[in-house]
Amino acid sequence: MKYLANKHKTPLLVIDHKIIRRQYLLLRKYLPRVGIYYAIKANSEPEIIKTLIKLDAGFDVASINEYKTVLDLAPKKDKKYLRNFIYDRIIVANTIKPEETLIKLANNKTLMTFDNYEELLKIKKYCPDAGLICRIKVANVGSVVELSSKFGVEPGDAPNLIEKAINMGLSVEGLSFHVGSQCLNLENYVNALDASAIIFKEMHSRGYKLKLLNIGGGFPVPYDSNVINFKPLAKKINLEINRLFPKDVEVVAEPGRFIAAESGTLFVKIIGKALRDGKTVYYIDDGVYNSLSGVIFDHIPYHFTSFKKGPSSICAVVGPTCDAFDTVSTSENLPDLKINDLLYVKNIGAYSNASATNFNGFPKAKILHINT
Ligand SMILES: Cc1ncc(COP(=O)(O)O)c(C=O)c1O
Repeated sequence: MKYLANKHKTPLLVIDHKIIRRQYLLLRKYLPRVGIYYAIKANSEPEIIKTLIKLDAGFDVASINEYKTVLDLAPKKDKKYLRNFIYDRIIVANTIKPEETLIKLANNKTLMTFDNYEELLKIKKYCPDAGLICRIKVANVGSVVELSSKFGVEPGDAPNLIEKAINMGLSVEGLSFHVGSQCLNLENYVNALDASAIIFKEMHSRGYKLKLLNIGGGFPVPYDSNVINFKPLAKKINLEINRLFPKDVEVVAEPGRFIAAESGTLFVKIIGKALRDGKTVYYIDDGVYNSLSGVIFDHIPYHFTSFKKGPSSICAVVGPTCDAFDTVSTSENLPDLKINDLLYVKNIGAYSNASATNFNGFPKAKILHINT
């Protein structure tokens, strides 16, 4: 793919849709009972959404803008089709929604999550027809990106919260959880499924049948060799789902990283080279304010590969801005490189361009979609 970097100039993020399709189909194959809603926060490029719409995927959206992005790309048939698409294919999966968002969602029956009473009051006021999913707090131990400090009702408090919603005349479809992103600990899924099953039973004993279980995202990507393999993970999740939940419970998931990460390869160019404190520092034309933002926000230590061979040594790789914080890595093992030499980073399709900025006036990486 080096020719692409030479042709299109760097920084260049190449998204391979063959991989997007492969990952989606892997999820469908190894989690056959689970409907897949791509969390577009991982990478909301319209081309990716179009590819997944063709595969009949659903979508997890976090904001009204993400909702509109998906809706704009939905097949244009008729109003009834669109209403069904909204209900069947979109989950508004942010438990905290501004009132302005709820007002815009009011005219359609929309699936949305909640985890507190104040949110229920807003939903009752603006979206009384919504289908609600109660998000519970589950252990995120051993997941790279921790989410449970910000979201989810304690499982022990969930039945009362759900009952409050029902008594307010709202419709609660089911439960959701998120085990933390890049989950490296299988037990997080096992424990979260156990906790969910207890709540399903408790609600049943209170005379209310929950219909939907949303197992969130978190499926890990092999950034390095320590990452648990997806197939045994999926096998265990399947076993637990089938053991704990009757066949008529609909199960869905909201993977982001697993679908997008491996599709992305970033090409960058060396724009500067200096010796600082005895170590070679390479300045590149992308950095933590651009596609490599995941180093900060997503806690992923990306590594660089050179097209050049030769004896290597430990060096630092930093971004182009006037900020020392813009340091991508202080310990890369690279051969002796010159200005204009190219480097690439694999598995960088998720949480990369999604959080890129134009800080210091540097343009965001160009995005090239291949095998669409
Ligand atoms: C509510 C929700 N669903 C799904 C996802 C996607 O998670 P992942 O990329 O780990 O699959 C996230 C990530 O932050 C999330 O917050």
